[in-house]
Amino acid sequence: MNTEILLVHPHSPQHSIVEHAAAILRRGGLVAFPTETVYGLGANALDPAAVQRIFIAKGRPSNNPLIVHVATIQAARELTTAWPDAAQSLAKHFWPGPLTIILPKAESVPDLVTGGGPTVAVRIPNHPVALALLTAAECPIAAPSANRSTELSSTKAEHVLNSLGGRIEMILDGGPTLGGLESSVVDLSGSVPTLLRPGLISPHDLRQVLPELQLASHLHLNDEAGSPVSTGTEQSTEPFLSPGLMSKHYSPRAILESRAADGYCRVQELLSDGAAIGWLRWGHQTALRHPRLKVMDMPIASIEYGSCLYAKLHDLDRANVTHIVLDLPPAEEHWLAIRDRLRRASSVWIEALPKG
Ligand code: TXA
Ligand code: MG
Repeated sequence: MNTEILLVHPHSPQHSIVEHAAAILRRGGLVAFPTETVYGLGANALDPAAVQRIFIAKGRPSNNPLIVHVATIQAARELTTAWPDAAQSLAKHFWPGPLTIILPKAESVPDLVTGGGPTVAVRIPNHPVALALLTAAECPIAAPSANRSTELSSTKAEHVLNSLGGRIEMILDGGPTLGGLESSVVDLSGSVPTLLRPGLISPHDLRQVLPELQLASHLHLNDEAGSPVSTGTEQSTEPFLSPGLMSKHYSPRAILESRAADGYCRVQELLSDGAAIGWLRWGHQTALRHPRLKVMDMPIASIEYGSCLYAKLHDLDRANVTHIVLDLPPAEEHWLAIRDRLRRASSVWIEALPKG
């Protein structure tokens, strides 16, 4: 299949282009489009055959549910059987925006979308292209991140093309996505509101609106566990209880080593082993030059860090490095989403130097 790439204005998307993309969605095709977080791979959420094609294009396990994007709160409500006060407050405060809310699903939502589970994830994205597409398509759009399963999310159209080119009908290229990390996922389907996936909206900001919000147990910052809990595998047939919990996720091709303290020494060690290395350096400026080393200084502030993280990892993969050493930012709450993604992406995670 030939994947059509159309440049679209990110602030005032051209009507004819959006209409063309919407027509593809209406007849069961797949269109990748920018959101304020990462690129999404969209299909008509009410068309099971179209949704099935998302899973095939991504190589995604069918038990991993999709987020359904809508243009209005009313449209979100129609996909659910309950709309508690907490949902209304969160929606009023954060939509359109990088927040996904999980609620009991309405019958109209195909089981394929929800991975066979009883709940549905909904969000109104805050990007003119995404909103224009939703309005033109006149249907809810199921859209996971536009990348092959377990790989890095796409923050540029070229990332989508490299990952999914030839498997989807169209990419709407609205330039780089500014947020750079995925939405925060809040589960309101149980008795306690729970943050399942940290994202662009911090726990602190969410608690301003929903003080009773709890963090899912795998997210606790002082958790000593070195690697994420795995509740599902590519082979599992159970519905996923929490998002992104496969042990490999958001991963670059290179071996990623995240280290709290000894990045500089590790880079030197790997260089003497003959490896081609990328170093995502953070918080210091130790001079080190080598023909086999690409150094990238990461922003000190978490928002800017999150905005460029995936793009830097994509760049290092393109440069064919075999190892990436990354200086870990601290275990503080405003780094939660970034550290969560790094944990899943890393083959090596060293929080503290061994004693002695
Ligand atoms: O920012 C984002 O959220 C992007 C843009 C495109 O909107 N989308 C995105 O989708 O990141 P995806 O599929 O890559 O990640 C959605 C996560 C998955 O980990 C999935 O398991 C979880 O949300 N999820 C979806 N529906 C769920 C449900 N009913 N219950 C629990 N988790 C759910
Ligand atoms: Mg994803």
